[in-house]
Amino acid sequence: MKPAVFSQRMPSFGRVNQVPRTAETHPLTWRLRDDGQTVWLDEYRQKGGYRVAETQLAHKTPEDICRCVKEAGLKGRGGAGFLAGIKWSLTARGEGIPAAYLVCNADEMEPNTFKDRMLLEQLPHLLIEGMILAGYANQAVRGFIFLRGEYVHAARVVERAIGEAREAGLLGAHIAGTDYSFDLQLHVGAGRYICGEETALLNALEGRRANPRAKPPFPGQAGAWGRPTVVNNVETLCNVPVVLEHGPEWYQALARPESGESGTKLMGFAGAVRRPGIWEVPFGISARELFEDYAGGMRPGYRLKAWQPGGASTGFLLPEDLDLPMSSAGMARKGLRLGTALALAVDDRVSMVALLHNIESFFSRESCGWCTPCREGLAWAVKLLSALKDGRGRAEDIQQLEKLVGHLQPGMSFCGLAPGASEPLRSALALFRDEFEATLARSPPLPA
Ligand SMILES: Cc1cc2nc3c(=O)[nH]c(=O)nc-3n(C[C@H](O)[C@H](O)[C@H](O)COP(=O)(O)O)c2cc1C
Ligand code: SF4
Repeated sequence: MKPAVFSQRMPSFGRVNQVPRTAETHPLTWRLRDDGQTVWLDEYRQKGGYRVAETQLAHKTPEDICRCVKEAGLKGRGGAGFLAGIKWSLTARGEGIPAAYLVCNADEMEPNTFKDRMLLEQLPHLLIEGMILAGYANQAVRGFIFLRGEYVHAARVVERAIGEAREAGLLGAHIAGTDYSFDLQLHVGAGRYICGEETALLNALEGRRANPRAKPPFPGQAGAWGRPTVVNNVETLCNVPVVLEHGPEWYQALARPESGESGTKLMGFAGAVRRPGIWEVPFGISARELFEDYAGGMRPGYRLKAWQPGGASTGFLLPEDLDLPMSSAGMARKGLRLGTALALAVDDRVSMVALLHNIESFFSRESCGWCTPCREGLAWAVKLLSALKDGRGRAEDIQQLEKLVGHLQPGMSFCGLAPGASEPLRSALALFRDEFEATLARSPPLPA
């Protein structure tokens, strides 16, 4: 069995496996403390922290950094997998264009996803170093960390870490004695899933209602307060110092060959598994390795019925799909997205109808209400699922659910929430239709 090199159990976020993590194999997590406490500035510096930022700002141009990140193939870790270097190269700059802003998306509200929380609470300076480098690459004058409202501890940690960095001359005017000036501001949201969508996030940051914005213009052209704005996920930004310290080839080689990915990835397994948690693993490992070697398989008395690869907005797979690589290409073989790569094991004691009712209730509640298919369609799906779950359903309710899935596809709504919400429903109806039909046997006949 492969040793779990970084394992953190829910919900304490405090237990770390003792197997050594090294900078060579676990570049994101090797600095974590075994007691789960925050790595503050002194310890971060003792462990080589901020050396990359100081060196790069002193000796490299913003273009050098953009090029290196592009060559490394660093993909966004927020779910969509867009290449960070390409995004940065599209940021508007030039005469007459106002200087850019950098926004860290720390809204993390995807059910079953808590990887950014671990980074924020335990390695805040890795994020700050990544933001200084990303800010420099985009010539940004200010950075914002948009944090999920419920992450109260993370808010305290990040605020203190920003203060430490500012006091040490790592934020503010002339960072580390260079010509580059950049400061960071923490913005705590009110805790809504839609604030994770990057343009809704920008509206919320500006104090507006968190509805997504029409694109174009893309944030890189006109984002926060009309300025070119780069939005990146916490984990994406934490990868930036790693890429720049070791170079593109080294970074690419961390991932499994042929995976089409670069670097390592925080992945996890939750549900009735023996060791639920998150681990830093090579991108592209098989789901079976993650499930068996890291999570230890199912707890005694439980059988794996289905699994979701990366959050509530990803589809379901079966136990026989566990040999798929945990990569975008691997999941695409089954027509799915990898999402956040924090997988959920669904056991044989869980009713798929009840689970879907739970999932769709979340998405319906979190819909911003801007467009009809999402606002009305999700509420209707919840009503139908509730009836089926409680034995009040009718045969046509299942067909109606299938019809609703069609109305929630990409292109039918204004943002990605509705297609994400439809994905688990679509795949559950396809893979577990028998469970939906079995609820009908409990339904009383309709009055004549
Ligand atoms: C409904 C919805 C919620 C989202 N939530 C998050 C989130 O919590 N964190 C995140 O980084 N990206 C989230 N995204 C993706 C962002 O819109 C955006 O693609 C991402 O922040 C870009 O960063 P990256 O390129 O580094 O991944 C969400 C997207 C949608 C449609
Ligand atoms: S899909 Fe849903 S969340 Fe997105 S804009 Fe439409 S109503 Fe709002």
